[in-house]
Amino acid sequence: MNKVFVSLLLTLGVVTITHAEGNPQAGKDKVVLCSACHGMDGNSPAPNFPKLAGQGEGYLLKQLQDIQAGTAPNAAAGTGRKILEMTGMLANFNAQDLADIAAFYAQQKPTTGFADPNLVVSGEQLFRGGKLEQGMPACTGCHGPNGSGNAPALFPRLAGQHATYLTKQLTDFREGLRTNDGDAQIMRSIAAKLSNKDIEALASYIQGLH
Ligand code: HEC
Ligand code: HEC
Repeated sequence: MNKVFVSLLLTLGVVTITHAEGNPQAGKDKVVLCSACHGMDGNSPAPNFPKLAGQGEGYLLKQLQDIQAGTAPNAAAGTGRKILEMTGMLANFNAQDLADIAAFYAQQKPTTGFADPNLVVSGEQLFRGGKLEQGMPACTGCHGPNGSGNAPALFPRLAGQHATYLTKQLTDFREGLRTNDGDAQIMRSIAAKLSNKDIEALASYIQGLH
């Protein structure tokens, strides 16, 4: 991935997101239902439910908009992001509600996890070095050297996320089951170069990053 392309993405990310200013205090009152799966403070206790704590506010808002679109009763196939577990849950939230929810989770402190010691070397190599021979860029280029993401560019925080959830996302991008990474298909084209073994190593390594 060259520098010009990345900076183009940065510009697009900043330009396309129009923000209603989020109020974290108001957001706290709107996530009562969510905490059953995502945890009271956004640190989900279950490995298939993503941690939301400390995630970039702009990325969270984009996902909420995408999930709202993808789980609407009349959503066309391939629209937004379809999450069966969240069917109908965002239906009654307006733009301000979504902004408040994103602001609340962005302010929470994320917990960390552990990496399988047997997968650290291969996971780290992929995360920091990519697969040059296949033209796959390093994850660090966008998600940061510690996996803490790049909030203004809407590159999500990955560090400490559940490996089970990460594995599902990378597999879904690869299989074309998650398609909300934009017209440039950044994550779909990266995941297309990952084997199941690569994904297992990356997910474990990232879960242990902090
Ligand atoms: C029944 C469990 C459940 C409930 C309740 C729930 N979610 Fe989720 N949520 C999930 C699952 C499962 C995923 C990931 C799905 C996938 O792609 O595999 C998810 C994904 C997300 C994501 C995307 C995270 C990321 O890193 O991309 C956001 C944001 C989110 N949920 C917010 C919410 C909010 C806000 C509420 C409450 C209004 C809520 N969820 C309620 C199960 C739940
Ligand atoms: C050129 C920038 C770029 C590179 C390089 C990149 N990513 Fe991403 N990644 C993104 C963007 C942008 C998104 C958010 C897509 C969206 O809006 O849904 C994302 C999303 C993700 C997600 C979903 C996070 C969540 O909470 O659901 C995972 C997992 C992920 N990337 C892993 C990786 C891994 C592993 C690598 C290296 C093999 C990598 N990415 C390389 C830009 C990048």
